[in-house]
Amino acid sequence: MKPIKLDEILLSHPTLQSALVVNDAKLMKELFGHSSATGKFKTDTLLEMTKGPYGVVNTEGELWHEQRQFLIRSLINFGFGKPTMEPLILADVQEAIDWMKKDMDEHGTVEVFNMYKIGVTNALWCIVAGERQSKDDHTFSLLVDALVDSIQNSVKSGLFFLSWLKTVAPEISGYNCLVKATDNVHQYIRKLFDKHRETFIPGSPRDVIDCYLEQLQNATDPESTFFGANGEKNALATVVEVFQAGLITSSHTLNWLTLYLTHHQHVQTKLHEEIDRVVGRNRDPSLHDKPKMPYTEAVIQEIFRITSIVPLGLLHELLYDIDFHGYRLPKGLLLIPNMYHIQHDKKTWGDPENFRPERFLNENESRVIQNNAMVAFQPGKRQCLGEPLARDVLFLYVAKIFQNLHAFPDPINPVPNFDYDDGILLIAKPYRVVMKSR
Ligand code: HEM
Repeated sequence: MKPIKLDEILLSHPTLQSALVVNDAKLMKELFGHSSATGKFKTDTLLEMTKGPYGVVNTEGELWHEQRQFLIRSLINFGFGKPTMEPLILADVQEAIDWMKKDMDEHGTVEVFNMYKIGVTNALWCIVAGERQSKDDHTFSLLVDALVDSIQNSVKSGLFFLSWLKTVAPEISGYNCLVKATDNVHQYIRKLFDKHRETFIPGSPRDVIDCYLEQLQNATDPESTFFGANGEKNALATVVEVFQAGLITSSHTLNWLTLYLTHHQHVQTKLHEEIDRVVGRNRDPSLHDKPKMPYTEAVIQEIFRITSIVPLGLLHELLYDIDFHGYRLPKGLLLIPNMYHIQHDKKTWGDPENFRPERFLNENESRVIQNNAMVAFQPGKRQCLGEPLARDVLFLYVAKIFQNLHAFPDPINPVPNFDYDDGILLIAKPYRVVMKSR
């Protein structure tokens, strides 16, 4: 392990915040597992998304802890990570397949992302908002598209790191666009809360939003993060975050996966073979099949690794001074987990630039091997709480879509394009493919 050279990467310019870039998986897990490292980088771009320090992603200390614990408990109460979600997810995949076939009949090629971005959070909508989103209602996904664009632009314009740009150049820096996009998403989710209030029966929560309404109603302690106007803001911000976090990451991961399989036919063939052998063609795949489908698992792991869609993770800040490997790290130090580097380090992976799921399999390809340098969900005290759902959704989507379909390059644009739009996220450029029934 090459020691990190702190004096090289600690920036001490008086007007800049000191930062530590973490390029090593072991050190990253150790550092982000420290309570002091649960602080968050306070940039107006992210704070705008929650309209202030509310909810889970942009909060710290007791507020963060209480909100995160409540969110996890409520999600689990309504089926998060449990087998009851399986039929909900499978129904969404079936809709995606039907839609892809229809689009193929009409246009000869299909832009799969359009369906992924509507479908992947539907199961989550069911447990959070008690209803499925209609596949014909694109309102929310369009709002999220606009939001993703404005966040990506805020990185490109410099606004993400230089919040003062919002005052001197609100239009050019993209700040005005960002505010509009977040206003629209908040308005949409606020309406969901209002609709729930009309029929909410205390003591009988129907979904996660009802759990929040109950918690807000019962909060009489002014110290509680559910009390009063701030309680309302925390509830709204959390539900906004859950949909954003779940929709954006999962849909773009699946989009990358389809692109890679389209241009790596030998991988797709092996995937088809495993699905046919374990599941066959006459029943739906199930999460029970997962242990018997190491190749499918390895494909998903390899997609997480090679695309590293959140390349620098979410930035944290130290809440108080700590001693770390002989160094005194000061309160306020910005922590940048270089997840892209960790997941592409030649020393760990040998040939990181190659899409090779086999790297996650043992010699006879019968078992998945875990690699400690896989950090896609940013291990540590604030590790992504949606990981179990994201993994289940991706597994069922991949297994069912490729049980039914074979992806081929678009004959008009056959040359693979793995370029991405970069910002907080690495996003595949729009593409079309041929999805043929098998
Ligand atoms: C491919 C899918 C996903 C990826 C790659 C991903 C990645 C991440 C990463 C890198 C973080 C930052 C963790 C940190 O700050 O230390 C995070 C946080 C978070 N994710 Fe995910 N995520 C995914 C899916 C989801 C889903 C489906 C949900 C919905 C339940 C979700 C909800 C959250 C929340 C609420 C946080 C904030 C946690 C906190 O600050 O305590 N994510 N995610």
